[in-house]
Amino acid sequence: MEPSPTKNVDVPSVEVDFQRYPTSQKLLKRCQDFFSEVENLTPGKDLEAYLNENYGPGNPIYEDLCALTIEGLKEGWVANIELDGPKYRRSKVAVPKEETSFLSITTVYMDSQEEYSGQYHKHPYGEINCVVQIDKTAELKGMQGWQGAGWTSPGPGTHHYPQVRNGALIALFFLPAGRISYTAKPGDAQPIAV
Ligand SMILES: [Fe+2]
Repeated sequence: MEPSPTKNVDVPSVEVDFQRYPTSQKLLKRCQDFFSEVENLTPGKDLEAYLNENYGPGNPIYEDLCALTIEGLKEGWVANIELDGPKYRRSKVAVPKEETSFLSITTVYMDSQEEYSGQYHKHPYGEINCVVQIDKTAELKGMQGWQGAGWTSPGPGTHHYPQVRNGALIALFFLPAGRISYTAKPGDAQPIAV
């Protein structure tokens, strides 16, 4: 299914087949563990710093999220829909629902040595983004700059290009209520807090 550029929800909207892929159930479980620890926090600069301090490399939840996402990539259900050839791909793990604290769970694979930009988008309620490195040099750009292994968390109302450099990674990201907009444009005003 082609993602619609104007729909204000996270796309694609089809979940992974949890029955077919036991690894996806394990990933969902670890996401739930993470959500139960951060569900009262708000996306933004402070949360990004907090996550990198407390849930970075070496943290059991972070390590499991990375390992299970990479396993899912090998099994073929992670980021398996091409947006710009094999170097930019996306897939939905879960839609927002009670079991996910009403966050959506999405995976985006990006692979580029040079800086590469995906689809410009806005997060009306913010975003929590787990950087799953395939190459140990790969970095994802958040509102605070380039991020290797760890987290970014753009605040509510922020908009940007998803950007990668120095290799391949997967962004495993969570959107409150699954909200994302593809109508924002570069140059639009950013919120006071990013
Ligand atoms: Fe984003």
